[in-house]
Amino acid sequence: MTDPPKGESPVLQTDHYIRFERVDSVEETPRGLLAGLHREQLRVDLVADDVVRVKISRGGVFDESPTFAVCTDPLSRPVEFRVERDEDRVRVITSSMVVSLWLDPFRLDVHRTDGTPVVETAADEQGRYWAYATLNDSFTLRRRCRQEDAVFGLGEKSGRHNRKGRDFTLWNTDVLNEHETAEFTAGKEPGDPRGDRTSVDFDPFYVSIPFFYHQSYPAGTMAASFVDNGYRGSYEFSAKDEYRISFAGGQYTEYIFAGPDMPAILGDYTWLTGRTAPPPLWALGYHQCRWFDYSQEAVEAIGKRHRDNDIPCDALWLDIEYMDGYRVFTWNKERFPDAPGMLARLSDDGYRVITIIDPGVKFDPGYEVFDQGLERDVFCKTEGGDTYIGQVWPGNTAFPDFVTEEARAWWGELNAAHVQSGLAGIWNDMNEPATGAIRANAMRFGNGKYSHERYHNQYALLMAMGTTEGLLKAMPEQRTFILSRAGFAGIQRYAANWMGDNFSRWDHLWLGVAMGSGFGISGQAFVGADIGGFAGNSNAELFLRWMQYGTLTPFCRNHSEIGNVDQYAWAFGDAVQDIVREAVKLRYRLLPYIYSAFIRASETGEPVQRPLVFDHQYDATVRDLDDQYLFGTDLLVAPVLEPGATSRQVYLPAGDWHDWHTGEVLRGSRFLVAPTPMDRIPLYARGGAVIPMWAQAPATTKEHHPEVVELHVFVPLADGTHTSRLVEDDGLTFAAREGACYDTTFNLIRSGGAVTVDASVEGRGYPEFARQAFHLVVHGASPSAVTVDGAEVVATEGGFRIPNAGNGFRASFEV
Ligand code: GLC
Repeated sequence: MTDPPKGESPVLQTDHYIRFERVDSVEETPRGLLAGLHREQLRVDLVADDVVRVKISRGGVFDESPTFAVCTDPLSRPVEFRVERDEDRVRVITSSMVVSLWLDPFRLDVHRTDGTPVVETAADEQGRYWAYATLNDSFTLRRRCRQEDAVFGLGEKSGRHNRKGRDFTLWNTDVLNEHETAEFTAGKEPGDPRGDRTSVDFDPFYVSIPFFYHQSYPAGTMAASFVDNGYRGSYEFSAKDEYRISFAGGQYTEYIFAGPDMPAILGDYTWLTGRTAPPPLWALGYHQCRWFDYSQEAVEAIGKRHRDNDIPCDALWLDIEYMDGYRVFTWNKERFPDAPGMLARLSDDGYRVITIIDPGVKFDPGYEVFDQGLERDVFCKTEGGDTYIGQVWPGNTAFPDFVTEEARAWWGELNAAHVQSGLAGIWNDMNEPATGAIRANAMRFGNGKYSHERYHNQYALLMAMGTTEGLLKAMPEQRTFILSRAGFAGIQRYAANWMGDNFSRWDHLWLGVAMGSGFGISGQAFVGADIGGFAGNSNAELFLRWMQYGTLTPFCRNHSEIGNVDQYAWAFGDAVQDIVREAVKLRYRLLPYIYSAFIRASETGEPVQRPLVFDHQYDATVRDLDDQYLFGTDLLVAPVLEPGATSRQVYLPAGDWHDWHTGEVLRGSRFLVAPTPMDRIPLYARGGAVIPMWAQAPATTKEHHPEVVELHVFVPLADGTHTSRLVEDDGLTFAAREGACYDTTFNLIRSGGAVTVDASVEGRGYPEFARQAFHLVVHGASPSAVTVDGAEVVATEGGFRIPNAGNGFRASFEV
C-alpha cells in the first residue's frame, strides 16, 4: 500500500520505522510463549480460548499495567492449549484458535480452528512484513483486510458507523476549541469535511477507545482488537487491503479476540475493561439541562412548569453559571441565596439536581479549593516543577493530578461533600483535559514524573474514578451517577457519556444515531446526545423529531448553549409540546423495559442502543445501516432525519415485527417505506417479545412503585421460543446484589396456535415493592381468554389481569 498523501491525515508517518524481522528464540510459558527478538521480548498470553494477549517489551522490560482500562486479572481464567513447533513457526492452539508466531521473517497471525483469519500480518510492496515496527517510542503494525470488509467500534467517532475507508486519531479533543482542533483541520482541501470541526466527519472527538471489530466479507465473522495503550493513536482503515494501527508511545499490548460473534467479543472486552454500573432508575428519566444564568427562582419555575404542563421529568441540571466566578464546589450566592432550600423544595417535587464540575480549579489564592490543592500538592506540574496553568471558564486554572491516588481521593472527598449538600449526581466537562488557548502538553502527571501524552487520554477516566470512589466511600449504599464528556476504555465503569457539543442541525441529529451505536458496541452503554442540539438555535420541527428519538436513547437529556432560543418542551408551541409530551411519556411507560436492558448491560456488557449489526451480523444488508437501531433487544427505532419528511425507508431484520403505531405485523428481512407523520417516528416491537411497561407515565420516578405492571406480549408469526426479562428493585441502592429484587424471566413459546408465556422469578423482593398484578396485553392476536396456572382469565380493559406479587406463572392462550 502507499501512504496517504501527507497533509491529508494527521496519522503517524511510519516509513522510517525499524521493523522487527526475525525471532531469535521461543520458549513455552504457563500461558503461552515468550520469544526473544531484536533484543526485546514478545509474550503471547492466552486470556481465553478465543482471546489472546500479545505484548512486546521496551528495554527488555514489560509494562504490566499500561493503562487504567483493564480492571481484572486477564490471566485468571483457566485455558487449555498446546504448543506445536515446526521449522518456520511456533503455534499455540486452543479449541477455538491457532496463534502462529512465524520466526523468519517474523509475523504473527491468528486463525480460528476452521482456518478463517482473525488477524494476518500484512506485507508491503517489497514483501516486507510489518508485524511490529518501532521508532523513538512509537510503534506501528499492519494487518491484511479486504476492501469489502467492514470495521466497527472505536467508541465515539464521527461519520458512518462502518469505519472502513477512513483514518482516525485517538486523542481526546475539545471539538469546538479552535486551538485544540487546529492541527486536525490544517491542510485539508477546501470542501473536505474533516477540515471543519462542526462537520459530522470531524476527527478526533472527546473520547478515545482503542477497540474495534474487523468483519470479514462475505462470511460476516468478526474479529476484534483492543490495544491497551493511552498514548495518541492512529487507526488507518483507508487503504484497500490493509489496516494500520500506530501509537505514539508506550508499549505494544494488544488483546486479539477471535470471535466470530460480536456479542461474545463485547462480553470478553467488557469483562476486561468493566461494564456499565447499574444506574439509579431516576437517571433513566428525562433530564432538563441548559447553559443559562438561572436564578434559583427560575430553576424552581422550570421544575414547576414541567409538572404544570404534564411533562415527566426527573432531573434538572445546573451548568457553570451556578458557581461563584466559575469556582468549582461553590455557589453564586446572589443567584442562589438559599441553595439548600431550593434543593429541598425540588426534591419534594420529585426532582434530582446535578451540577457541573470541571477539572479546572481557578488559580485564585484565598479560594479554598485552590489553596487546598496547593497545600496537598495534588495539582499537575510542569517539567520544571511549576503548577501547570491552563485556561478554562474562570481564566487561569490548575488541574488535579488524577494519576496520583492522593489527588483522586481529594477530589472524591470534595465531590462527596458537594453531593451530600443535596445533589444527586455530578457532570464532568472539559476533561479531555481542555485547556483553552494554552497548550496542554506542558501539563505533566504523577508529580511531574510522566509526560502529558502518557495520560492525556486517560484524564477523564481517572477523574471519574476519583469521583465515583469518593461518592461510594461517603455513601456506600447509593448508586452513583456521573456524566462525562471525555473518556477512555473503561469509562463505562464510572460514568455515562454524552456526545459533547453538537449542533442544532439535521446532520447532527443523525450523527448521534451512528455515534451512540458506536459507543454501545465499544462497551459504553449509557450514552446520549444533547437533545435538540447544543450549538445554534433549534426549531420546532428539528426539536420535535429529536425528542421523538432522543427519548428512545439510553441517556435522555435536553441541553443547549447559552444565547440560543429556548428549547424547553413547551418552547415551540402547544402542537409541538403535545407530541413531545407523548414521546416523553412513552419513555416513562417503557422504563421497566429500559431499566431491565441496563441491568443486562451491567451483567453482559451488551449495548442498550445497538446497531443492527450487533444482533444481525450475518445479514450483509445491515453492515452499512446506521440510521436506525435497536433500543434494547426488542424495539427497533427509525428516527426521522430530514425536515418535511412524510415517510422514510426502514429495514426490518430477520424475524417479524409489530408496527408500534398500527399493530400491523410485518415479516422481516426486507425494506419498507414507513409513514412519518409529525406525531410519530417508525417504531417496531420484535415478534416474540414480552415488553414490560408502566400503565401510566408518572411525573417522576421518585417513589413510583406501581401496583400494576403491563406485559405487552407480541405474538410471533412462527413457532419458536423467545426470552424477555423484567428486573424490579429499589432503583437506588445496591441491595439487589443481595437478592432484594424480583428478576423475572419470560419464556414465550409458540407452537402452532398455542402460545405460552412461562415466567420464572429470582430474588426475594424489596420493601418498596407494591406490585399486585400484571396486566397482560396481547398484540398480534385477540384471544378471548387466557389460562393462568390452570384457571381461566377473561379480558378486561383490553388485557388480562393476573394477580401477581413477585411469583412465577404460566399463561397460555390460543391464536
Ligand atoms: C461545554 C460543554 C457544554 C456546556 C458548556 C458550559 O461546551 O460541552 O455542555 O454547556 O461547556 O459549561
